[in-house]
Amino acid sequence: MTSGNRRPIRTFVPKFARQAWTALARLVAAWPRRQRVLAAEQLPAWARAGKRRRAHIRRVAALVEAWADEMKVSPQERGRWLKAVWLHDALRDAPRTRGTTHGGAAADRATQDGESDRGVLDAVRYHSFGYAGWDDVGRMLYLADFLEPGRRSRRKQRAKLAKRVPRDRDGVLRETVAQQVRSRLRAGKAIHPLTLEFWNSLAER
Ligand SMILES: [Fe+2]
Repeated sequence: MTSGNRRPIRTFVPKFARQAWTALARLVAAWPRRQRVLAAEQLPAWARAGKRRRAHIRRVAALVEAWADEMKVSPQERGRWLKAVWLHDALRDAPRTRGTTHGGAAADRATQDGESDRGVLDAVRYHSFGYAGWDDVGRMLYLADFLEPGRRSRRKQRAKLAKRVPRDRDGVLRETVAQQVRSRLRAGKAIHPLTLEFWNSLAER
């Protein structure tokens, strides 16, 4: 090889190595973030949830992930939403003592495990009723729990509502709570005071 040939190789190799290094660095930078998010995306070891329940939880998680992507929330916020999703029905199939709820039991157990995010704990604790003091975590969980595609009733209408969430979250929330309240009233069932308070916080005056 002549020295004239060597020069282009010498310039090409570092350029190639630099490009490969940049690509590798990008991959490595993305990896731990993905792993951190994944850590929140699983049922806790103490969960008591059957196969169908787990399938429901996975569908709720998929819906929340799709909304988080479309709403471009931060990875931290997305992680909070998903943490609440994986906790909310974790004790749904566990035996319960009178006067307790599966959401309350899961929130208490998560607290024992060191969970201290008020928004996540309140989301889990009150997901069956609604809660006027919720931040985004409780609101997104409530919506996804009700609008996930596996539920049998009013599939088409719920799919439409689910699609609308990223651009009109509060509007969809109002309609969803109204629907729940209406169907309980029609069935002659009581409205939980927390649900009523939640509805009043959303309704126009
Ligand atoms: Fe659920």
